[in-house]
Amino acid sequence: MAAEIINGNEIAKQVRGEVAEGVAALKASTGVEPGLAVVLVGEDAASAVYVRNKGRAAEEAGIYSETYRLPQETEQDEIVELVRQLNADDRFHGILVQLPLPPQVDEETVLYTIDPAKDVDGLHPFNLGRLAAGNPTFVPCTPAGVQEMLVRTGHDPAGKHVVVCGRSNIVGKPVSLLLLQKAAGANATVTVCHTGTRDLGEITRQGDILIAAAGRPEFITADMVKEGVVVVDVGINRVDDATRERGYRLTGDVDFGPVSEVAAAITPVPGGVGPMTIAMLLKNTLQSARRSVGG
Ligand code: GUN
Repeated sequence: MAAEIINGNEIAKQVRGEVAEGVAALKASTGVEPGLAVVLVGEDAASAVYVRNKGRAAEEAGIYSETYRLPQETEQDEIVELVRQLNADDRFHGILVQLPLPPQVDEETVLYTIDPAKDVDGLHPFNLGRLAAGNPTFVPCTPAGVQEMLVRTGHDPAGKHVVVCGRSNIVGKPVSLLLLQKAAGANATVTVCHTGTRDLGEITRQGDILIAAAGRPEFITADMVKEGVVVVDVGINRVDDATRERGYRLTGDVDFGPVSEVAAAITPVPGGVGPMTIAMLLKNTLQSARRSVGG
């Protein structure tokens, strides 16, 4: 039977609508306008699209947003200095430095410069540490979006076996920690596996929920999933496709067609997790603005 397709665009629209209401209420009661600064270094085409979408979504929700575009060859010190200025700038409650950064820049040095109280991306070790300690403040946006999608579509992870395939700092590790929390919308049994796992299919087939975040196109094939699984595909990969005018197509980490014949529910790429990441960024920015006035 073909799987239920989980519509990330639709769920993200709901979340963005809720954020817009929260922003309007905050402005009305305190006069505070939430603000988001986005830093983009270089000309990576995919990053430019994400950043444009983030800026537009922020404005639609009533969030003041500015994007700082720096050339590919910018030195690390200059980026660090910009982040310090943004830390001190009261217009901004959230700062996001789009990854990846160019090779001459150490991503950790830049991310660790962001004031944890403005780290709406949740990637500073202070915020990752709080998540690990079971007392999260800013949860990274993609993991938060994955959880929100599951809960809002009736696939609550509580008590289920969630298998996460991927171990990145941005998705694999934090989504594992998030769904492991003893909290509503989590409380799962979590297994983390990755491209170095022996007999990977043995592990992935155990998942009631499978989160694919390995960063490899169509890596999860139909023989690697259990009948009736809920599949969340976090991958966004560009693969060459001469039949497309632009010369490539976007595909996830899941072999969508065959896997959707076996799964109970699945997120598509595009239109799945991607829009949720942006919605959760806005939600974190609103949360940060509320905190700035003691909320
Ligand atoms: N690049 C791809 N996804 C993300 C994200 O969620 N945050 C940042 N900062 N960069 C990204």
